Amino acid sequence: MLNEYDPSRDVEWNSVVYIRIQKLLIQEVLMTPRLMIIATLGIAGLFGVAIAAAAPKKEAPLAVPKGVDAENARHAQAMLAEGKRTFRYDTFGSEAFWGDALQLHKAIAGEKNGGVGPGVSPKTALSVGLKVDADALPDALKKQLAAGKVNLDDPATTIALLKLNAVVGVTAFANPDGSVKSMGIQCAFCHSTVDNSFAPGIGKRLDGWPNRDLNVGAIVSLAPNLKPFTDLLGVDVETVKKVLASWGPGRYDAELNKDGKAFRPDGKQAGTLLPPAFGLAGVDLATWTGFGSVTYWNAYVGVTQMHGSGTFFDARFNDKDQYPVSAKSGAGNTRDKPDRVTAKLAALHFYQLSIPAPKAPAGSYDKAAFDRGKTLFEGTAKCATCHVPPLYTEPGHNLHAPSEIGIDSFQADRSPTRMYRTAPLAGLWTHQKGGFYHDGRFATLLDVVNHYDGHFKLNLSDANKKDLVEYLKGI
Ligand code: HEC
Ligand code: HEC
Repeated sequence: MLNEYDPSRDVEWNSVVYIRIQKLLIQEVLMTPRLMIIATLGIAGLFGVAIAAAAPKKEAPLAVPKGVDAENARHAQAMLAEGKRTFRYDTFGSEAFWGDALQLHKAIAGEKNGGVGPGVSPKTALSVGLKVDADALPDALKKQLAAGKVNLDDPATTIALLKLNAVVGVTAFANPDGSVKSMGIQCAFCHSTVDNSFAPGIGKRLDGWPNRDLNVGAIVSLAPNLKPFTDLLGVDVETVKKVLASWGPGRYDAELNKDGKAFRPDGKQAGTLLPPAFGLAGVDLATWTGFGSVTYWNAYVGVTQMHGSGTFFDARFNDKDQYPVSAKSGAGNTRDKPDRVTAKLAALHFYQLSIPAPKAPAGSYDKAAFDRGKTLFEGTAKCATCHVPPLYTEPGHNLHAPSEIGIDSFQADRSPTRMYRTAPLAGLWTHQKGGFYHDGRFATLLDVVNHYDGHFKLNLSDANKKDLVEYLKGI
């Protein structure tokens, strides 16, 4: 069952969306009566699906034999479905923060639609990396979009898309009069993208892929009320905006509200790249600096970053030297009521572990060079001593001191481990945008290889380096 998913609200929403979309289409004066019927059926269908999703489901009989095996298989299937739903659609009550407190929905709606300012048009939304789930769009709307007949400069269209639940990782909530009341975010906001199969930024969901186009800082800085940040960090609005602007696309700082370190000592931005949430089964520690397991981090993010309503406990955040902000705020012992996170952690964990690292498309790398690169990776270049195939991280405690990999300790020191986790490399080809290593300090894979060549004194030839790069592109 979808969290906080109230079917009665869908009645309002769908009728509002229906009216809005009709208005948009009529505005374009290109809607034939036949298309109108298709649109109506589309919306009615969506309404039906929403009700069906909200209704308690009967257990489908399974083809496997009775007994423990069958029970386990049924359980696994149920966990997979629930985890996917949570990952894609659950806000954990985070609308209390993003909407009610920050008022971000008002900036998106714009003054003409009951909000503030110019509003966010679909064009602007796509330009800051937000993605649209084509499967959530009614066919009539898809046709209009394909024909260029939908006004992508009008924030009202963004609202219509939000109400269709078509903006990946963002959910809006409505007032009885149909205006936007609030908005929350999901895991999919940062860890899903789309395959662009319909248009750039519009397509089928790709869960687990980091959205390296997403400019989280630019989106958050639109918020009319940044007081929750200024209060917590003890700085003014201008400073908060400067920090948010420093990350750029594909980066976010998940430790800022614990240690208050907004910039590196050298003045550079302190965010980390959004990592993939796939290929993690069998991997011991999660995050660039190995804070804990996947489920540990899910609780951390759901409660302390997304600002969902839940429980998070980690006494390490009471250390007032390493974490002055959380030592004061008590974030290491958060007990929100009601708890909308804890009961979802098991299935959420299960879902992420079930997502394999996507295979590199044939032709996206040179196969002969890949084969030579593999020999180097596992042999003289010594990469596989840490990136042990097929996990591409160490089975066991997969951490290294900054000096071992030849980089500074700034980000490691923001973690209780004070180490860097050996990045699991499978599916690397999906996140080449934004660079490599936790902060994207190496723009290309060749830069990474050159770094190791220098640090480990590998004496790789140019041809060797190229082969290693082709290997990295293909795993
Ligand atoms: C605002 C963007 C954002 C949202 C929303 C978000 N994450 Fe993340 N996630 C990050 C960043 C940034 C990191 C890296 C943090 C670090 O290393 O310090 C991360 C790390 C992770 C990791 C570790 C991946 C690895 O390579 O070990 C997992 C797993 C993960 N997130 C899952 C989730 C889940 C599940 C949710 C929803 C409960 C979620 N994230 C919500 C930005 C986000
Ligand atoms: C001593 C262990 C160790 C060895 C040896 C090692 N790596 Fe790494 N590797 C790491 C760690 C730790 C990270 C994470 C760095 C960070 O978070 O900034 C990493 C990160 C990477 C990344 C970036 C991944 C990403 O998602 O941005 C690539 C690519 C990579 N290594 C390739 C290689 C290659 C190629 C070799 C051999 C030439 C190699 N590594 C040797 C430990 C190692």
